[in-house]
Amino acid sequence: MMNNTLGIGLAGFGTVGTGVWETLEKNLNLISQRTGVQVEIRRIAVKDLSKSRLKGVPSDRFTTEWLEVVNDPKVDIVVELIGGTSTAYDIVAAALRSGKPVVTGNKALLAERGQALFKLSHEHHAAIHFEAAVAGGIPIIKAMQESFVGNNIECINGIINGTSNYILQRMTEAGLGYEEALGEAQQLGYAEADPTLDVNGWDAAHKAILLASLAYGFTIDPEKVYVRGIERVRGTDIEFAKRLGYVVKLLCVVREHTDGTIELRTQPSFIPGSHVLSSVHGVFNAVAVKGDIAGESLFYGRGAGKEPTASSVVADIVEAAHTINTQGTNHRGFLPYKTEGVIMAIEDTSTPYYVRFDVTDEPGVIAKIAAELAEAGIGISGTHSPVNPDNPDADFVDMVFQLHTCRFGLLKDTLKKIETFSCVNSRPVVFRIESLS
Ligand code: HSE
Repeated sequence: MMNNTLGIGLAGFGTVGTGVWETLEKNLNLISQRTGVQVEIRRIAVKDLSKSRLKGVPSDRFTTEWLEVVNDPKVDIVVELIGGTSTAYDIVAAALRSGKPVVTGNKALLAERGQALFKLSHEHHAAIHFEAAVAGGIPIIKAMQESFVGNNIECINGIINGTSNYILQRMTEAGLGYEEALGEAQQLGYAEADPTLDVNGWDAAHKAILLASLAYGFTIDPEKVYVRGIERVRGTDIEFAKRLGYVVKLLCVVREHTDGTIELRTQPSFIPGSHVLSSVHGVFNAVAVKGDIAGESLFYGRGAGKEPTASSVVADIVEAAHTINTQGTNHRGFLPYKTEGVIMAIEDTSTPYYVRFDVTDEPGVIAKIAAELAEAGIGISGTHSPVNPDNPDADFVDMVFQLHTCRFGLLKDTLKKIETFSCVNSRPVVFRIESLS
């Protein structure tokens, strides 16, 4: 058993940072007994020293200078928890350059600027640990790095943004409006500092990019990834999905096609009510991984919030400390083994769809839209125009079409034409209908 106590430097002491402090206070003895690792948080960089801090944290640990934390000789491991891709990049890069391993929960940073950071990590023999970056307390990163190493990954389907999932559930079950549900998610500490990334799909997409990189071994350009968020989901869509036997979820799909291209997209989707992913509610996340050898595995747990995320950060701290103690050379972070891979153009992906049009209620509307779809060769499996009981004579109505499987590119071009019709008042809202089989 090692008795060498290693120093931790935290950059950021918000929801997750305080969770890390509390977790170590509560479970450090257990961790030491289990692993022989002893750690201590020695420096904490914060933006504002006057903000009320956790009771019991000595005030001399705090500084407003993140460089002091990174450069402190008593700090052996740097934990970046400030979020964003600018200062966070500088902190992580500086730590790696000085040979200190980094623990981070920052998916945006790694998905957007990971290539340079992982390169630094290899050059300086300092690992980047990022379990907390994907799906909160679920150990999916280690599963991808270690447990599935003997598999070709066929596909990954994930519900990996707790905030969106929480909002969708509150809209479904409590009939809350979108803004109200988002406010709750923020209060509960699920949302990012800037919740835009949660609701516009990018938080989930960043996580999917990291999973796809680990699965397929190349650095993914976020610009090639198709991302839509939940901002345009309405109660009508949730109701409709339910009537048809589906549930609306913000779904990430990562799939390798036979030609080697990788389908990688994040968008609100209808998923079958009978599928296990439809039962993933509230802040819970789930990641379904299919390997050619292991078959299907499902990872389920709390995807956001103080304790689950702190649990993953602490696990990474322990791993980093263990590596230092054993003088190991653990650089599993991410080692690209392909110089390039191809992300499938979103236009070439195919599923059935649900499309909602906001139309002026006048004779012939359905016929006009249906004729354009027929002209394009897109089959219609159902159409409906729900009447608002509070306003049955409204001039504007939602008109819903369910469409058979077709190339997304074809649908996109056809919807562009339909959008120009005078009876169509705004851009149609498209949901994929996923079989998940
Ligand atoms: N804001 C994120 C979420 C936190 O809601 O899932 C975890 O990354």
